[in-house]
Amino acid sequence: MELKYLDKLWEKGIRFLGTRYAILCGAMTWVSESRLVSAVSNHGCFGVLAGGNLPVEMLEKEIEATQALTSQPFGVNLITIAPNFEKHVELVSQKRLSHVIFAGAIPPDKAIAQVKASGAKVICFASTLALAKKMIKAGADALIIEGNEAGGHIGPVSTTVLAQEILLHIQKVPVFVAGGIGTGEMIAQYLLMGAAGCQLGTRFAAAEESIAHPQFKKKLIDSDARDAQQTYQFDPFLPVVPVRAIVNKATKRFNQLQLNLLRELEEGKIDRKSAQMKLEEFWVGALRSAVIDGDVENGSVMAGQSVAFVKEVQPVREIIRELVEGAERKLASLWEQG
Ligand SMILES: Cc1cc2nc3c(=O)[nH]c(=O)nc-3n(C[C@H](O)[C@H](O)[C@H](O)COP(=O)(O)O)c2cc1C
Repeated sequence: MELKYLDKLWEKGIRFLGTRYAILCGAMTWVSESRLVSAVSNHGCFGVLAGGNLPVEMLEKEIEATQALTSQPFGVNLITIAPNFEKHVELVSQKRLSHVIFAGAIPPDKAIAQVKASGAKVICFASTLALAKKMIKAGADALIIEGNEAGGHIGPVSTTVLAQEILLHIQKVPVFVAGGIGTGEMIAQYLLMGAAGCQLGTRFAAAEESIAHPQFKKKLIDSDARDAQQTYQFDPFLPVVPVRAIVNKATKRFNQLQLNLLRELEEGKIDRKSAQMKLEEFWVGALRSAVIDGDVENGSVMAGQSVAFVKEVQPVREIIRELVEGAERKLASLWEQG
């Protein structure tokens, strides 16, 4: 398909990613494994493997399985606060990958340097303009800005505000926009604001090639934007990184766990670090129950407000076609209006 408008507008993004289209399928823990990642990359977008909390040997197997399924570029997402983070960095450096994405907290300079020395391009998340500049100084070759509308662990600020705060002021490296994006028309808008491309998660979680349980996909289809709600922090003494997921019994269980931990903290029965760890462990286990076992009531169905645009289980090829056609159509309508 000839892309009269998109090819020019997202040129920086496709050159950086080495893909036909500047659309990334963001890493999703338990969901983004070799099949989904390779399908996304084989159909012209950029797949990202989720390193998450995987044991090193499993991540190595996943990287090799993806390489066997696609010759196209893909990335590996590493969580800086994961227990195996340093080993993951060592592994991806040995594997000579094309792109590595750091998520979680601010990545250590040493990890960025090590990955870059292996020849890979480094992508970092930035939640403020100051952090975006800091990450570029530290060696980031591209940035992702992810708004509060996104699924999974989120920041406090919406995608539209981040786009104005960060996107408009960073020209040095490609910036990809994520969070709440479900249509090609929206992708076109962010490209017009200077984005190099966009990253989506939720729509791809419901793809035919996604290993997520059929019940997980059904829950996404049945849900509305208003069902994808974020968790709240009851007391700043026990900091909670908000998570956006479909409201269910797990939401209630998480709130109860928070209250119990606050009480235990007050009574001196637990320290802050262990309490926070328990909260994080809750999500890892709950996400697995929903994605792998299909327990969408007691497990965590992490999803962005973009769940509004998940209407059916579709092959990756079809999702990508819809996004690209929608973006190109939007741009054509703007230019050809006269
Ligand atoms: C189920 C799920 C799991 C996720 N896990 C991760 C993760 O492990 N690492 C990460 O950087 N982002 C993670 N994300 C965020 C996605 O990579 C992506 O940025 C986000 O889904 C974009 O917003 P959208 O869902 O509205 O498209 C996750 C999102 C979902 C829905």
